[in-house]
Amino acid sequence: MRILVIGGGGREHALVWKLAQSPKVEKIYVAPGNPGMLNLAECINLPASDFESVAAFAMEKKIDLTVVGPEGPLVAGIVDVFKAHGLAIFGPTAAAAAIEGSKSFSKELMHKYNIPTAFFKICSDSAAAKAYIKEKGAPIVIKADGLAAGKGVVVAMTEAEALTAIDDIMGSHKFGEAGAQVVIEEFMDGEEASLLAFTDGDMIVPMLAAQDHKRINDGDEGPNTGGMGAYAPAPVLTAELKQKCLETILKPTIAALKAEGRKYSGCLYAGLMIKGSDIKVVEFNARFGDPETQVVLPLLSSDLVEIMLACANGTLNETMVKWSDKSAVCVVMASGGYPASYPQGLVISGLAAANAADGVVVFHAGTKEKDGQVVTAGGRVLGVTAVGSSIAQAKDEAYVAVDKIHFANVHYRKDIAWRALK
Ligand SMILES: Nc1ncnc2c1ncn2[C@@H]1O[C@H](COP(=O)(O)OP(=O)(O)OP(=O)(O)O)[C@@H](O)[C@H]1O
Ligand SMILES: [Mg+2]
Repeated sequence: MRILVIGGGGREHALVWKLAQSPKVEKIYVAPGNPGMLNLAECINLPASDFESVAAFAMEKKIDLTVVGPEGPLVAGIVDVFKAHGLAIFGPTAAAAAIEGSKSFSKELMHKYNIPTAFFKICSDSAAAKAYIKEKGAPIVIKADGLAAGKGVVVAMTEAEALTAIDDIMGSHKFGEAGAQVVIEEFMDGEEASLLAFTDGDMIVPMLAAQDHKRINDGDEGPNTGGMGAYAPAPVLTAELKQKCLETILKPTIAALKAEGRKYSGCLYAGLMIKGSDIKVVEFNARFGDPETQVVLPLLSSDLVEIMLACANGTLNETMVKWSDKSAVCVVMASGGYPASYPQGLVISGLAAANAADGVVVFHAGTKEKDGQVVTAGGRVLGVTAVGSSIAQAKDEAYVAVDKIHFANVHYRKDIAWRALK
């Protein structure tokens, strides 16, 4: 089989790495990819937002399955274009991807179908938003409605912060059209976990729960990032809670989307807030998480190509999805300065030595090749994943590998998986 993967970050490296293990695969193209994938796939440049050209490439190269990594193309309708051409593709249509692309749609869907989530109000003018904030008081959460590259949410601990967020989003149009509406939410207390699931629109099969680390510094301090590390399975989602999540969140959500004429297939990502036996949805994403993918896929023992084809073809009920009983930890190595500004083009050394260890994979995120060397080209540069017999062992092995990799001003957290080990 011939596969095309869309995207070029750590998540896509993990996807390509896992897809390449399938005996079914003869060739993988990745657009645009990154240097970490060069021994697994052919990196190509395709016009990212011109889906007709991407589909034309898929037809010309006789691609059997296309896998979309990031949310942007899903929300903009790449799956619709591929389906119109009769091409197999893993991911939801634009109508279904609205569960990530529009937080107001997602909240209204959950409300209508009694899926547990925080109380909320949708506002399309700033006066109404501010009045609601004054009525409810802090802490309170303000979210831009549309896609904002993970930056559109303010968890306001004071009323003043919440009002400023409204001015930024609706007054200064910080996120453009994505901020035309805001969702104002009740603040939820608890521990977060991510539960990703495979679905063909009827059947939904959860993966292993993961937990990521959004803040830049140890102890969950400092500004938010795209994610500084992750581990799986996350013990906070016990077997009992996972079952509860399947019955009260995942199955009802898939049924709701189908009932609304927005049948969803692909990977559904549920961001969860867990407090005791209470479990609520923080958000849905329409794709794999980054860096959750880098710890979940290394624990998948089944063939990812078969699963993805089954999701695209509606035959997931006939497909095995099996997991290893091991644990995985991923430590993100970032450019010093990230998530603010940082230098690029710094030479990275020690990659081969780190990769050589048993159970270790170095996923590339922000790297490029320059004069035969791999150099930094982004905020999050690498995700170093280790698989071990326990979280503690996987963590130790991940940090042994991290110690072998060097670039100037590298920053990484030393406490990945701390909640599982406390
Ligand atoms: N109601 C809430 N109560 C407490 N914290 C919240 C709430 N909603 C969101 N958060 C916090 O803000 C973070 C980001 O919120 P959310 O996941 O909705 O935004 P996002 O920008 O879509 O994130 P992502 O980039 O992961 O898709 C959450 O992971 C959580 O830590
Ligand atoms: Mg999101």
